[in-house]
Amino acid sequence: MERGIEKHNSVTQLELLASIKAEAEQIDKKMQSFLVGEPRDLYSAAYYLPSLGGKRMRPYVTIMCGRMFGDVDEQLYLSALSVELLHNFTLVHDDIMDKDEFRRGHPTVHKEYGETVAILAGDLLFSKAFEAASIAEERTGAAGIVRQLSLASIKVDEGQFLDISFEGRHSVSMEEYLRMIYLKTASLYECSALIGGLTGGIVSAASRSAANENQRGFLAEYGKNLGLAFQIRDDYLGVFGDASKTGKPVGNDLRRGKKTLITIMATGLASGTQLTRFESVLGNSLATAEELNGVISMLKELEIDTKCVVTAKEYAEKAVESLDTFPQTRVRALLQALAQYASTRES
Ligand code: IPE
Ligand code: IPE
Ligand code: MG
Ligand code: MG
Repeated sequence: MERGIEKHNSVTQLELLASIKAEAEQIDKKMQSFLVGEPRDLYSAAYYLPSLGGKRMRPYVTIMCGRMFGDVDEQLYLSALSVELLHNFTLVHDDIMDKDEFRRGHPTVHKEYGETVAILAGDLLFSKAFEAASIAEERTGAAGIVRQLSLASIKVDEGQFLDISFEGRHSVSMEEYLRMIYLKTASLYECSALIGGLTGGIVSAASRSAANENQRGFLAEYGKNLGLAFQIRDDYLGVFGDASKTGKPVGNDLRRGKKTLITIMATGLASGTQLTRFESVLGNSLATAEELNGVISMLKELEIDTKCVVTAKEYAEKAVESLDTFPQTRVRALLQALAQYASTRES
C-alpha cells in the first residue's frame, strides 16, 4: 500500500517510475483479459497496441487520486482500465488521422492491419472503455464515472477536430492552441483524476457540500494542468526529441503543418530569411531531412526549445500546487512527482 501516515515531501523519479511500473502490471493483466473475444482477428488487432506497452500515466493518475482517500483497489483498477482503454482508442484513430506509421517503437495499428481493421479495433477499445467504466460504477455505486468518461471522450473528439482543422490555418493564437490541447489531451487527464476521486469516494457526484466541491475542483485542476504540461512536452519531443526514446517519428508535426507551441513561438520570433525557411518546411510533406534539421537548429538558435520547457514546467507547477490542500502523504508526493515528470520526460 502506498499510503503512509508519515509526512512525505517528495519522492525521486526512480521511486515514481517503480511505482508506475507496479501499477501498470496490474492494469496490463486486466487489459489483456478484457480484450479476449471473437472474432479473434479483431480482438488481436485491438490488443496489439496495448500489448506494446506505453507509459500508463492516465490509469496511474486514476489509481493514485483514488488512493489519496480510499483503499478500494479492485474497483480503482477497473476505473483506471477504462481511461487507459479510451486512451489507446484515441491513439489508434489519431495515427490514422495524422498518417503516422510508428508508435511505441512499432508500426501503428493501421500499418500492421490496414485502415479498416484499425478503425474497428479502435471502436472496440472505445466500447470496452465504457464497459469497464460501467462495471466500476456498478460495483462501487459511485455515480458519475461513466458520465465523466463520456464528457472526456466528447472533448477529445472536439479537440482532435480542432487539431486537424488547424493544419489548414496559417496561424493560430496561443489561446486557441491551449483550448485545443485541453480538449484533445488534458481533458482525459482531468477525467482520470476525477474518476479516481469518484471511485475512491473522495468526491461524490451527488454531494453538493462545499468541501466536496473544493476537492473535486482541485482534482480537476491537477489533471488539467498535468495534461497541458504533458501535451506541451509531447509537442517539444515531436521536434526536439529522440525517436529511439519516444518510439514516435520526429519532425512529422512540422511536415504536416501542426500548430503547436513551437510553431506559435517561431512565427512570433522569427523574421526575414529565418521565417521564410521555417514557412517552407511547415506543412510541406516533402521537406527533406536536411531542410527539417536546418529548421530545428534555427528553432534552437531562437531558444524555442528552452522556452517550451519553461512553459511546460509552469503548468506542471500549477498541477503540483492543486494538490497542496490534500494530506501530505506518499501518494500525494507521487502524484506531484508525476506532474513534474510529465513536463520533463524523454519518452
Ligand atoms: C500520447 O500519449 C498521446 C498524447 C496525448 C500526446 P502517451 O505519450 O501517454 O502515450 P503512451 O501511452 O505512453 O504510448
Ligand atoms: C494527442 O495527439 C491526442 C490524442 C491522441 C487524442 P498527438 O497527435 O499530438 O499525439 P502523438 O504525438 O501522435 O502521440
Ligand atoms: Mg498524432
Ligand atoms: Mg494528432
